[in-house]
Amino acid sequence: MKKILTISLALGALFLFSDAKPESEMPAADAQALWNYITEVSPYQDWGFWEDYKDIQPGNSPHGPFNKVFVNEILLKATGVPAPYGSIQVKEGFNKSKNKTALTVMYKVKGFNPEAGDWYWVRYSLDGKAGPEGKVQGCIGCHAVKADNDYILVHNLK
Ligand code: HEC
Repeated sequence: MKKILTISLALGALFLFSDAKPESEMPAADAQALWNYITEVSPYQDWGFWEDYKDIQPGNSPHGPFNKVFVNEILLKATGVPAPYGSIQVKEGFNKSKNKTALTVMYKVKGFNPEAGDWYWVRYSLDGKAGPEGKVQGCIGCHAVKADNDYILVHNLK
């Protein structure tokens, strides 16, 4: 009986993981590679939203008056802290007139920055030019108020 349980658990795990994108398909922690991924390989506008943070939402400084936070499938399936490797959130920022102004992105990459949740941070202009990117202290410093929620501010993982 125990053996059957173990086998079915193992099969269940296999099934779960086969659903996820193989790691080789995920981009490097690099502004150009990530831009290509979120615009060509897996266009972020096709992703989902957190069920408690859908579509356009009022935002706070420094991100501007409104935002939309797109969440990739790997992260949407998260069941707690920490978020799984390969998690990505793309935040579209909007001005007062609801015109899109920029994208800010968090991408969880194994071994990239273990001291701060292994997130790769980047801000893009709408045509894909990267501003601050990498282990950006500004981004980390502010998001660290929710380090116990893996630096994610708009949704509680637990
Ligand atoms: C002064 C504080 C502050 C700084 C600095 C900051 N953020 Fe944020 N960030 C927020 C807040 C607050 C939110 C929640 C949305 C809102 O209220 O605008 C947020 C939300 C986000 C989200 C949506 C996912 C989430 O829940 O955390 C992303 C992605 C993001 N920020 C990326 C960045 C990046 C990249 C940088 C650096 C270039 C950065 N942030 C710098 C405060 C900050």
